[in-house]
Amino acid sequence: MKILITGGAGFIGSAVVRAAVARGHAVVNLDALTYAACLDNVASVADSPLYAFEHADIRDRAALDRIFAAHAPDAVMHLAAESHVDRSIDGPGDFVETNITGTYNMLEAARSYWVGQGKPESFRFHHISTDEVFGSLPPDPEVKFTEDTPYDPRSPYSASKAASDHLVRAWHETYGLPVVLTNCSNNYGPFHFPEKLIPVIILNALAGKPLPIYGDGSNVRDWLYVEDHAEALLIALERGQIGRSYNIGGDNERTNLELVRALCAILDEKRPKPEGSYADQITFVADRPGHDARYAIDATRIREELGWTPSVTVEEGLERTVDWYLANEDWWRALQGRKGVGERLGRGKAGSPV
Ligand SMILES: NC(=O)c1ccc[n+]([C@@H]2O[C@H](COP(=O)([O-])OP(=O)(O)OC[C@H]3O[C@@H](n4cnc5c(N)ncnc54)[C@H](O)[C@@H]3O)[C@@H](O)[C@H]2O)c1
Repeated sequence: MKILITGGAGFIGSAVVRAAVARGHAVVNLDALTYAACLDNVASVADSPLYAFEHADIRDRAALDRIFAAHAPDAVMHLAAESHVDRSIDGPGDFVETNITGTYNMLEAARSYWVGQGKPESFRFHHISTDEVFGSLPPDPEVKFTEDTPYDPRSPYSASKAASDHLVRAWHETYGLPVVLTNCSNNYGPFHFPEKLIPVIILNALAGKPLPIYGDGSNVRDWLYVEDHAEALLIALERGQIGRSYNIGGDNERTNLELVRALCAILDEKRPKPEGSYADQITFVADRPGHDARYAIDATRIREELGWTPSVTVEEGLERTVDWYLANEDWWRALQGRKGVGERLGRGKAGSPV
């Protein structure tokens, strides 16, 4: 199958590109190369005859039409997005333009191409989204997000992703475009951009800097190793039912404080400090405004209908991730100079200097 993957130079998109090529799919990676992109993430497949790159912006409809015509893909996996909640608080405009208008452009370019091809039933538009569209859960461990949970986004990021999900469903209902949607929990693993929680903790720990924890660290996230997500996405593309959405999660709920302590324990073992523990560097900072208390995914549908299960426990995944950052200093050092990285972003009105 030839797959047009948007956002393939980002964290999750690059894992999907690598996994798709490994499965023998041809891939066209369409990416605008924003601050969050890094082509080194796909260096391992860049010379493959199965791989092509298109430097383009999903806000540019003419470029999208040209790329569909030039490559004639069998399917689209749409991951390109602005993805950092803190940046969405400081600058929501980019999130509206890329995540909503950009998705609209992708849908229209895909629809026009699909109609031009005679509406093949085998075509797929797979939209990759987040569990953040469902809002925030109470602490009750029995309560999790299912595919039927009503949307209740609370940050500019999650609102823009929710809007894009609605557009994708509407393009299926109204125009018959064969779509599949997935909503996934927090990912972590190799090539995670050094502004997100796990890389920030590992890199600040190594640099002897404070390990910032928002609020009291009680916010709960459901962590999934990125390569397990990429596998789930390819299964959903290949076998998912048209018009259906699938929740993807790791069944690995941790409070932020538990997660940071687990990372410190791994680092204490692998790169011990001369004295004390990395946990001594933990510092509580002003919370993010509107910080959702808990996310947790019920992944029964994708498990039972499509036979996907995560292959990596959170303990294994965190250890692999720490090993990867210890072994790939050149990669992360090059990204630490990018705009906003290492700064406290997204404090909004509720923030106070930290
Ligand atoms: N990171 C997570 O934990 C998580 C969880 C669930 C879902 N998602 C979703 O998965 C997708 C990928 O997330 P990620 O963490 O890999 O993001 P990322 O920020 O690491 O990568 C985004 C990629 O999209 C590209 N991009 C941004 N704007 C673009 C535009 N206008 N035109 C073309 N390319 C553009 C960037 O250059 C970058 O390569 C997003 O849609 C996100 O909402 C992420």
